[in-house]
Amino acid sequence: MSKMRIDKLLSNMGYGSRKEIKNFIKECLVAINDVIIDDPGFTVQPDKDVITFRNEKVSYKEYIYIMMNKPKGVICATYDPSERTVVDLLPHHIKSRKVFPAGRLDKDTEGLLLITNDGELSHKLLSPKKHVFKKYYAEVLGFIDEDDASLFSEGILLDDGYKTMPATLEIISSGNISKVYISIREGKYHQIKRMFEAIDSKVIYLKRLSIGKLKLDENLKEGEWRELNEEEIKLLKSIE
Ligand code: URA
Repeated sequence: MSKMRIDKLLSNMGYGSRKEIKNFIKECLVAINDVIIDDPGFTVQPDKDVITFRNEKVSYKEYIYIMMNKPKGVICATYDPSERTVVDLLPHHIKSRKVFPAGRLDKDTEGLLLITNDGELSHKLLSPKKHVFKKYYAEVLGFIDEDDASLFSEGILLDDGYKTMPATLEIISSGNISKVYISIREGKYHQIKRMFEAIDSKVIYLKRLSIGKLKLDENLKEGEWRELNEEEIKLLKSIE
């Protein structure tokens, strides 16, 4: 981990603004390796130095992993001049860690979104070669039956001539509106919507439930988020 200014580190961790941290340092509240410091520009090695704030140890993690229950109406981007982004829903001290959404859900799609600053892990999760299944709940127009499930299991030819990888369709109920679970391992543009269009149906509601073994925390309401726990981070990192 590279060296970092102590005021930046504490501010990134949500202890206050850079100005507030400066004042805390003046008030002798910050120590490095048991020595109280007076310089906000003091640089530390976060993985080696013992940092304390108000006598409590600060453990700095280089990477941050956030699970969000993405609501409808926000886009998966870090910044947009006219639209609200998922990163806009996060507080400043998380945004300042240069986080980005790992993958995209459409503006009208809800559900599990991972937001992180770990580029390597994000790359792994998104690579079709890694075969990480993403499971969605969908409501679609028209009667869906096992023949459709078997078409999906062979891969579907999309409007641009691309044949998707095999996908798993589990039918919950069939009718004028059918309810299904669908698992795919790629992330082509509007993939699920286009897969259903290819069988003359239409997605009217879409929510992502899981990414590999990582499941959406059902306690998170739309727009809510939390950091992943150690167990969940391990699950993601176990993807080979
Ligand atoms: N497929 C879609 O069509 N939209 C999404 O948001 C995700 C997968």
